[in-house]
Amino acid sequence: MNTKNKVIMTILAAVMAIVAVIGIRLKSNENKVNQDVLSGKTLVVYFSAQNHTKNLAEQIAKKFDADIFEIVPQEKYTDDDLNYNDKNSRVSKEHEDEARRHVLLEKVVPDNFDSYENVIIAYPIWWGIAAYPVSSFVIGNTFDNKNIYPVCTSASSGLGDSAKNLKSISSGGTWREGYRFSEDATSSDIDIWLKTISK
Ligand SMILES: Cc1cc2nc3c(=O)[nH]c(=O)nc-3n(C[C@H](O)[C@H](O)[C@H](O)COP(=O)(O)O)c2cc1C
Repeated sequence: MNTKNKVIMTILAAVMAIVAVIGIRLKSNENKVNQDVLSGKTLVVYFSAQNHTKNLAEQIAKKFDADIFEIVPQEKYTDDDLNYNDKNSRVSKEHEDEARRHVLLEKVVPDNFDSYENVIIAYPIWWGIAAYPVSSFVIGNTFDNKNIYPVCTSASSGLGDSAKNLKSISSGGTWREGYRFSEDATSSDIDIWLKTISK
């Protein structure tokens, strides 16, 4: 390598190092901002049958550097189960008959649940309310000394009474205002929500 190339390579390496340092600083500032929004340890809990809410929950957890817990039914919903146009499908039957809606979960209480001060519960809207497995999670836990932030995804419906209903079957905790995201929530959608919950 001649001297000119060496100089160019050194300058390039220096530029790349500066860009990397700036990137790390920006990321840590972003985390700091998000930690200011929610003080204390945060757990993102989600149920998702078709991955939209999973995508939202993972993005939120990343922004807060938070732990994540998936609500998993013992009997998972198949595509046929989710076909609300078929009156004989599992969801249609659960919709028709409230007694069928208590869905058993693989695990009800997240590890070290007591250690969290904030619990973000993300769920899809099913016929205007929270997807049924979320009720099983809420009934099965106590939320003493926790702030609960309900967030939902839906095709078009609003939050409706979904969060109010979950609060009514819960034990303890302070339920904060709920928020509705579209199916394909983006990072900037989440930032808009964060502004609404900022202290
Ligand atoms: C059984 C069922 C009922 C639904 N009901 C509604 C509804 O009432 N309003 C609405 O806007 N979307 C409704 N949807 C669409 C979902 O809320 C939306 O696709 C959501 O983002 C799905 O989340 P997921 O992919 O995490 O399961 C329904 C979907 C299913 C499967």
